[in-house]
Amino acid sequence: MSTYGSFPGSRPRRLRTSPAMRRMVAETRLHPADLILPAFVREGISEPVPIDAMPGVVQHTRDTLKKAAVEALEAGVSGIMLFGVPEEAKKDALGTAGTDPDGILQVALRDVRAEVGDDLVVMSDLCLDETTDHGHCGVLDDRGRVDNDATLERYAEMAQVQADAGAHVVGPSGMMDGQIGVIRDALDQTGHEDVAVLAYTAKYSSAFYGPFREAVGSSLKGDRKTYQQDPANSRESLRELALDLEEGADMVMVKPAGPYLDIVAKVADHVDVPVAAYQISGEYAMIEAAAQRGWIDRDKAIMESLTGIKRAGANLILTYWATEVARQL
Ligand code: PBG
Repeated sequence: MSTYGSFPGSRPRRLRTSPAMRRMVAETRLHPADLILPAFVREGISEPVPIDAMPGVVQHTRDTLKKAAVEALEAGVSGIMLFGVPEEAKKDALGTAGTDPDGILQVALRDVRAEVGDDLVVMSDLCLDETTDHGHCGVLDDRGRVDNDATLERYAEMAQVQADAGAHVVGPSGMMDGQIGVIRDALDQTGHEDVAVLAYTAKYSSAFYGPFREAVGSSLKGDRKTYQQDPANSRESLRELALDLEEGADMVMVKPAGPYLDIVAKVADHVDVPVAAYQISGEYAMIEAAAQRGWIDRDKAIMESLTGIKRAGANLILTYWATEVARQL
């Protein structure tokens, strides 16, 4: 007898004996349709521009964006989330490029819809930070503070313009109070009842957005702590959740994903709508950087990070690896 007394009385290892056994009992499976590809399109460039802090991710030209959308579709990815990067000279205090029908995001929405029709769900970031010269997600009052209600008026207009341009889903990411309700009303009043709202419900003020700010050429000085949530808090995510659902959110999102899996799990426990999680730029950069140095196995780390997000309760995952991972699955 190699055991002491009656131990081990139970042998969980039996279910881990072979790849086939482990595969059979796996509780969490990633599927290409779980994945949404976030993509950047920049105005006025003729070649894609690599993003230093996100190796493998680029600011697309209009043409390469269309190609990326088709590749995502062919790989089985279910959606694409578009971020527009206007020419520097077009940024202003009100972010007018965000409501210009010929602004880069609107142009890109039309391009991508013409390419993929209804086969890929086309989503747009609904926020002002990419188009304002101060880099905040809203407009400022005369003391330089982000003015919640004045911003809502801008968001209402953006929702209409993005829907006109062909967005199937708008993704308000600015964390203004009342944004979901105002956007839902704006869409309904302009004949866009079918356009869905993916609410960034629990969006934390995170250091992991760093590489994204390079990706969109953000001019932000300072931080977003008066509107994005404090990483120390969990309960307030449920308050934001209740408000977003009451205001008409069709889907809700937690962001970032990896450092906030407890929030993903909590939100998933409380809702009857799809839950998304956004594996953000810093999460991407950390794995790529460590892998470049040979410190971790890149592909395994990517799969594990995504499996963890799904296991926590997310139905949908926004990830910059969407197309690559979908091909592998
Ligand atoms: C705001 C927005 C941000 C991201 C998505 N939408 C940046 C921010 O809030 O500062 C971050 C995404 C990422 O880091 O990958 N429009």
